[in-house]
Amino acid sequence: MTDKTSNKMWGGRFAAGPDAIMEAINASIGFDKRMAAQDIAGSRAHAAMLAATGIISDSDAQTIREGLLTILSEIDSGSFEFSTALEDIHMNVEARLSTLIGEPAGRLHTARSRNDQVATDFKLWVRDQLDATQAGLMALMRALLGQAEAGADWVMPGFTHLQTAQPVTWGHHMMAYVEMFGRDLSRVRDARLRMNESPLGAAALAGTSFPIDRHATAASLGFDRPAANSLDAVSDRDFALEFLGAASICAMHLSRFAEELVIWSSAQFRFVALSDRFSTGSSIMPQKKNPDAAELIRAKVGRIFGANVALMMVMKGLPLAYSKDMQEDKEQVFDAADNLMLALAAMEGMVRDMSGQKENLAAAAGSGFSTATDLADWLVRVLGLPFREAHHITGSLVALAEKNGCDLPDLTLEQMQTAHDAITQDVFDVLGVENSVNSRTSYGGTAPAQVRAQVALWKERLG
Ligand code: ARG
Repeated sequence: MTDKTSNKMWGGRFAAGPDAIMEAINASIGFDKRMAAQDIAGSRAHAAMLAATGIISDSDAQTIREGLLTILSEIDSGSFEFSTALEDIHMNVEARLSTLIGEPAGRLHTARSRNDQVATDFKLWVRDQLDATQAGLMALMRALLGQAEAGADWVMPGFTHLQTAQPVTWGHHMMAYVEMFGRDLSRVRDARLRMNESPLGAAALAGTSFPIDRHATAASLGFDRPAANSLDAVSDRDFALEFLGAASICAMHLSRFAEELVIWSSAQFRFVALSDRFSTGSSIMPQKKNPDAAELIRAKVGRIFGANVALMMVMKGLPLAYSKDMQEDKEQVFDAADNLMLALAAMEGMVRDMSGQKENLAAAAGSGFSTATDLADWLVRVLGLPFREAHHITGSLVALAEKNGCDLPDLTLEQMQTAHDAITQDVFDVLGVENSVNSRTSYGGTAPAQVRAQVALWKERLG
């Protein structure tokens, strides 16, 4: 006789139930309950198909489908009792269905396995996340566009090596991130297109001898088609890895921008004022306004990329088809998805609320000899000097200004002419930062006209 504590879903050949430690390491219900809605949607589609193909009766399918809806509302209302002994969401739902509707519940698992079931549920969950990530990215991009539009012609220093390089516009800097998040968006869309094939009906690994209709279940779950190989369908998690890969890159972009906001909001820079809503105070130093949201966003990439690495390590070396190792896929993806969404939302809020400090940006734009390249270009364009020579002459003028403790536009014409006697008063036109940015009209350059054109283009793309 079978011990009554053995598992009623698979305990036929077992004389005893699992050790408590076995139950603890085996159970996934603690986290995979997050896929309840997907599990129920998959089961409802499967039941409908089983009836349409004559594998179960219409009335059984009807009872099953209604029972599943009841379970969904129990879960939504919080009255559902999850059981660790029932391992995972799939068996928790099925056991409850059996209590609710009796015998027909046992027919639901015909021509299906938990292997194709979990692959389907998880795909549906990841697909929802890809959609949510798209929405989050678009909201952030719209916030950046708002900043870019408002400050299309605000001048600020552009940096390389975090040293003043050339003046750029605030709008141009914001639009650089729009490009980055735009590529993140396209990575997410691309991943969604590739992953949208249904594993349901692959059964345990080999397909089934029942006359199922995989095209029907695929269509009813919003997949483009059924996955073409049953072994592959139940055993790969590359769709989750693509999500984590895209999420990691996106988090890296968020982290870079967050770092800039941390620097820019410091008393030494004062390029940006973050709103009170997205800052915190210090418990000891009353003057402090800390950019905690930016700092946490900067840090999130660690756990998100960590999830990517962890799942990659889980999957490497697994023989086909399903192995229980793959149960370790979910917590990583859930955690990465939650934190990515939070980081995107926090960044969007910060960007919407922040105010660029136009005056401070402009003052900084003119310091640090930021128009030295404009001076060298003028020597090439107007005096016809080779660029290397112009570079050298400009370098000597920078050294002179540095010695005098002034900036390039503060030098007199006579001082300029000590470096090259053909220099004329006109040179001062290119030493102003406004002229500098206005002159950079090459495609993709920092000129306000270029920035405005890019803003218009992205507005149209984002719809
Ligand atoms: N909880 C399992 C998982 O997340 C479901 C699949 C179990 N399949 C099995 N053959 N034991 O992967």
